[in-house]
Amino acid sequence: MRQAFRSSILHCLSDPGEASSASAIEYFEDGLLVVEDGEVLEVGHADDLLSEIPEDTEVTEHPGGLIVPGLIDCHVHFPQLDIIASYGEQLLDWLNRYAYPAEARFSDPDYAREVANVFVDEMLANGTTTALVFGTVHPHSADAIFEAAAARDMRLIAGKVLMDCNCPVELQDDAAGGVAQSRALIERWHGKGRLGYAITPRFALTSTPGQLEAAGQLASEYPDVWIHTHLAENREEVDEIAQRYPERSSYLDVYEHFGLLRERAVFAHCLHMNDGDRSSMAARGGAAAFCPTSNLFLGSGLFDLAAMRAAGVRCGLGTDVGGGTSMSLLKTASEAYKVLHLQEHALPATRALYLATLGAAEALYLDDCIGNFLPGKEADFVVLDASGSSLTARRIAAADTVDEKLFALITLGDDRNVSATYVRGKQQLSN
Ligand code: GUN
Ligand code: ZN
Repeated sequence: MRQAFRSSILHCLSDPGEASSASAIEYFEDGLLVVEDGEVLEVGHADDLLSEIPEDTEVTEHPGGLIVPGLIDCHVHFPQLDIIASYGEQLLDWLNRYAYPAEARFSDPDYAREVANVFVDEMLANGTTTALVFGTVHPHSADAIFEAAAARDMRLIAGKVLMDCNCPVELQDDAAGGVAQSRALIERWHGKGRLGYAITPRFALTSTPGQLEAAGQLASEYPDVWIHTHLAENREEVDEIAQRYPERSSYLDVYEHFGLLRERAVFAHCLHMNDGDRSSMAARGGAAAFCPTSNLFLGSGLFDLAAMRAAGVRCGLGTDVGGGTSMSLLKTASEAYKVLHLQEHALPATRALYLATLGAAEALYLDDCIGNFLPGKEADFVVLDASGSSLTARRIAAADTVDEKLFALITLGDDRNVSATYVRGKQQLSN
């Protein structure tokens, strides 16, 4: 089936922070996105393409809208949806006080399914079409999020948490059992439709060396499976790791030692790192999830995007809900701008878009299928518009350029500015 979507259209071809903006982005003021059987056929000026496409092509118009690629969340915890905005603690206390009790409720598969469905609908309402997702230690949490994503045809990567020490006993697995459960989930879900599996050791504080080693061994058996964990988020956490592993040169080196640093390994936060860590992360093909709302909310620190990108590390944005405070990647990008500002750097709107689309796809090694509108990519896209608050509408109406408009959308926008979300060319949500 051939369809076309007419609106303003913006997407990234590379990182606008690195290339000259003229070649890094493509913008069509009156654009047409042509989709066939859920894949992008072509994108361009409506005037040029409308005369070329077959007459029976169904054309959907989104006047006043801005079509961008589906947003990609590089790090989020679906079981923490219900504890978003929990007051007052830094990471380790926050985990004990809020996150672990919330995750313990997932022993109930019905509850896991209910939250998974609410979560993916929240994603779609916010224009997020792909995410890398933490479950809980319970294998059925991974089943629940995969089933919810599959029902909506979404591209999504997830895994059950591996956690065999330093946590409540009801959330604890063991090295052999956790790997056996992960292996069964890989066999059940990885590569099924648009789904992928991530081996998910929570972080080096909640796994014994034996479990990290077993996770690395499993990863070596499945080179195209993802690895998903947290790294160097909080000073107290980093100090505890240094005490526990005096023979390792850094926190990242602990993961590397156990075979957990490689292509398709995604590390949330990466705040307290040195240039040596950044170089090895880049050299090994690991990626960083920049989670600004979480880093500010938990008082964790400031992500150094300039240093990460200078070292060549793949970077994408993550909401990190529930440590993060919003499911919206627009809001997340707005906080990213402020985090960079505090370090005397800038984040142009098009680069923020890159971090939420093509950059994130590169971080997840999914840029062959999503991230922009090159022909053959899967047609996941979002229609942004100036609805929402009247102030947002007023500010956007006054914008002269697409950069100005996008920046105002990022700074003022949220799910109210997502008027439609399409997954493989099919509208999944209309706000
Ligand atoms: N580090 C280990 N677990 C977590 C978690 O659930 N959230 C965040 N933000 N950091 C973590
Ligand atoms: Zn997290």
